[in-house]
Amino acid sequence: MTQLTMALFSSQKYEQTSFDACLKNQTDIKLTHFEQSLDAQTAILCQGFDAVCVFVNDVVDKTVIEQLAHYGIKCILLRCAGFNNVDLAAANAHNIKVCRVPAYSPEAVAEHCIALMLTLNRKTHKAYNRIREDNFDLNGLLGFNLFKKTIGVIGCGKIGLALVNILNGFGANVLVCDPYATEGNYTLCDIDTLLTQSDAISLHCPLNESTHHLIDETAFSKMKTGVMLINTSRGALVDSKACISALKSKKLGYLGLDVYEQESELFFKDRRDEIMQDDIFSRLVSFPNVLVTGHQGFFTKEALAEIAQTTIDNALEFTHNKPLSNEVK
Ligand code: NAI
Repeated sequence: MTQLTMALFSSQKYEQTSFDACLKNQTDIKLTHFEQSLDAQTAILCQGFDAVCVFVNDVVDKTVIEQLAHYGIKCILLRCAGFNNVDLAAANAHNIKVCRVPAYSPEAVAEHCIALMLTLNRKTHKAYNRIREDNFDLNGLLGFNLFKKTIGVIGCGKIGLALVNILNGFGANVLVCDPYATEGNYTLCDIDTLLTQSDAISLHCPLNESTHHLIDETAFSKMKTGVMLINTSRGALVDSKACISALKSKKLGYLGLDVYEQESELFFKDRRDEIMQDDIFSRLVSFPNVLVTGHQGFFTKEALAEIAQTTIDNALEFTHNKPLSNEVK
């Protein structure tokens, strides 16, 4: 193949800039941006392309993959680390290669996780509004020291480890639960020990069948009262309804989410003129001790540049029939 034609779905302005910068002086890849996300309705746009480039909330299930195969798509390039939205078996059955960006900036997500923790804890978002109204009352802004607190990290891969390193700087006592982790600057333990002993818990494992609703009613029942839960990994790791019950009973003292189970219906678009249809989401954001960001953990200049570069490198390897460094099977 001399030139690869690639359809990039769910395109945002900031991505056009980062991809344009990578494609300067590059003629082996011809990129077309589509604002639409990929699903069974939009798959027809893939006609005439060799490859598709997708993000976290594009639908790449069996039905879509069959359509992609029909339109002659030979490669799916994920511009993210997680690949839970792709039916790998279906892609394999149609001989469609799948590549991802395994690590663009683990620190970006780990640092966002800290931003959620500190904002929930020290309530700087509330202080910001108070001071603008000349309200200098401190009542309601009481926080706690992270120093010497026990913080549980579930999943200690690239992001989990970056978080552990930051937490060590705070002087926190870090517990890690990860079936594949080796010894490090933390205490390895099983999930029950982590759930029972942690003052704050942060999720950094992938979403798969065994981790779906990892944090459910039973998990909450094991946690300390007033625990902080942070999820910057994937929404469905947490049962949102169980969160609402745990918040109402005050078992859950703080909830920070950068991801949400039904986020594909909401995130990455300005929906101010729409009527919110998701009652669970509305209830979640109504709690004063819940902070939700719209999947922005990855969103730093450094990460955007790295995502674009690795995606283009993956595409070039495919175009030139080279071994695929970041293939997922
Ligand atoms: P990674 O693959 O480096 O690490 C995942 C770790 O989870 C591995 O060490 C693995 O052994 C562990 N693990 C697997 N199953 C587990 C289980 N049941 N319990 C405990 N640990 C388990 O992945 P990385 O790069 O650290 O990313 C983690 C997740 O973060 C991704 O799967 C993705 O969903 C999410 N993510 C979120 C972003 C955001 O913008 N909010 C951006 C990038 C990734």
